[in-house]
Amino acid sequence: VDLAQVKQMIDPQMLRVEETIQETLFAETKALKSLIEHVSLFGGKRLRPALVLVVSKALDRTTEDHIKLGAVIELIHTASLIHDDILDEATMRRRVASVNHLHGNHVPVLLGDLIYARAFGLSLTLSTPLASKRLADVTQTICSGEIEQIFHRGAFDLEEATYFAIIEAKTASLYAAACSLAAEYAGAPDETVRALDRYGLSLGTAFQIVDDCLDIIGDEDVVGKSLGTDADMGKMTLPLLHLSASLPKSGKSRLREIFLSTELKDKQAAITAEFDLQPSVDHAFKVADQYINNALKALEALPESLFREALSTVGDFVLNRKL
Ligand code: IPE
Ligand code: IPE
Ligand code: MG
Ligand code: MG
Repeated sequence: VDLAQVKQMIDPQMLRVEETIQETLFAETKALKSLIEHVSLFGGKRLRPALVLVVSKALDRTTEDHIKLGAVIELIHTASLIHDDILDEATMRRRVASVNHLHGNHVPVLLGDLIYARAFGLSLTLSTPLASKRLADVTQTICSGEIEQIFHRGAFDLEEATYFAIIEAKTASLYAAACSLAAEYAGAPDETVRALDRYGLSLGTAFQIVDDCLDIIGDEDVVGKSLGTDADMGKMTLPLLHLSASLPKSGKSRLREIFLSTELKDKQAAITAEFDLQPSVDHAFKVADQYINNALKALEALPESLFREALSTVGDFVLNRKL
């Protein structure tokens, strides 16, 4: 099953997710209307709702709850990105200017809050409070992961375990919730729900590792968002941790000097100019590949079907994505 076929499998339901998102993002004022129009210009990859739908199909039961769940999760994700761009001082998101770039930081604080509130309002219309409860927890986990990351800004000697704890919280937790809630709303047995939770957690961890590589080697025009902000904001990511560990003492202290510099405007460029990052990026991809393998192993708990194959295609996509 290739990616185009995966998209085709869920096409009609995805359209309904889009409609639900649009309905939820209504605007009472002119100001809000212009902001929401801007945010709606480009949708992003919609990977999380796609997972909700494919999981529901793999379990042979796609309901109205799944449509709403996909929309709720995508809205929570969108709100987190609007806030994240403030934290990272990013100027581009989803191929257009970030909200903070257009309006400064005050507006996106409130717009993000508004979208979170709308998302939770929508989640209350599902047939059970399961999603509201889990997503309330996950939203706290995302925020707490982002706070943890800020508290470790400039930590050149970050423990690898701390890096993994942060990416699990800020990114993988939402993937795990998307996949396992989709299973719960399909009425799947506990064992299947747990397997999909593991699938989502491993997939989401791989997703963030690849994202951290793209921040270094990606092309802004292809990825469609500001890149190189990790080093600039003092975030140690897996490729940089590997580079640091592989350097002799002198190289390591030079890397530390660049990483902690208060004068350099583009730290990522400075690092790339002085060091060969390729082996470290290769290493990070290898680690991401191991997480994808774990994700695929978790899928063995599902009945064999084209939709199960589609979930492993998503794993390949996460590893090979250029955007
Ligand atoms: C970006 O997520 C934020 C991360 C968790 C790295 P996506 O890459 O899924 O963003 P969109 O939704 O496609 O814009
Ligand atoms: C993911 O981290 C952010 C969230 C989960 C909100 P990043 O800061 O790496 O995401 P991008 O690269 O800005 O999309
Ligand atoms: Mg960011
Ligand atoms: Mg990133």
